Amino acid sequence: MAVQGPVRKELGGDKVRRVTTHRIQQMKDRGEPIPMVTAYDFTSARLADAAGIPMLLVGDSLGQVVLGFDSTIPVTVDDMVRHTAAVVRGTSRALVVADMPFMSYQVDAETALRNSGRLLQEGGAQAVKLEGGKPVAGIVRRMADAGVAVMGHIGLTPQSLHKLGGYRVQGRDERAAGALTEDAVAVQEAGAFALVLELIPAELAEKVTASLHIPTIGIGAGPRCSGQVQVWHDLLGLVPDFKPRHARRYAEVAPIIQQALERYVADVRGGAFPSAEESFFADESAVRREAPSQ
Ligand code: KIV
Repeated sequence: MAVQGPVRKELGGDKVRRVTTHRIQQMKDRGEPIPMVTAYDFTSARLADAAGIPMLLVGDSLGQVVLGFDSTIPVTVDDMVRHTAAVVRGTSRALVVADMPFMSYQVDAETALRNSGRLLQEGGAQAVKLEGGKPVAGIVRRMADAGVAVMGHIGLTPQSLHKLGGYRVQGRDERAAGALTEDAVAVQEAGAFALVLELIPAELAEKVTASLHIPTIGIGAGPRCSGQVQVWHDLLGLVPDFKPRHARRYAEVAPIIQQALERYVADVRGGAFPSAEESFFADESAVRREAPSQ
């Protein structure tokens, strides 16, 4: 009898296998750097998956780059579920991590469990990410004990923007560096499978990475992390007037889109679009008759 449905999936079947947290750990253990990028929708997730990126983050940065807010704070669990599901539909291979938005986990472990459950069940993510060190370690433990793959996030934690007093490098002095190292260990010991280090000195990130057995994923944390994560829009130059120092633009996509749109507007205004080839006729031989005149 043919093995079908969920059992078939469990056995691997003839499907492309999705990257697992085990595989991510293996990459760290073998010294293979782990590339990660954010994705917020089906189309970009497909491109990232086709590029072989092993791990995608549905970041709550979607609040800024997709929804137009000035911080991640207004992002809701419903927003994250919706966008996570779109990203998951666009991927067959990448491990998809969904951010837990502001106040979806800080209140208590029950709230965190319920919301992470939504991201996994309704969104289809394989893992969730939350911000914080020692203060959230108990919550990370409850989630990990419940079978949720949790990625931690320390250093600059954008959901604490107002407490931190802005988007600035963290852990520059000895006391702050010590506290961040303790945070990293606490999150690891609570059961996290990986840890984002955002905007901290490269030397500190290297030290934290060396003191953990789980992979660290840096953003503005220097080259010695186990992997790197970048925001889709920064990487591709989609926001021309914003270039954070830690980001490298691998393309300048905004002017290409802008010029394409301007050409489209000119063609519509000038009557050059649509042509006969781009139109439908009751008698299709009209396409052949009219095409040369375009
Ligand atoms: O939301 C996000 O994009 C993030 C990355 C900056 C790590 O959390």
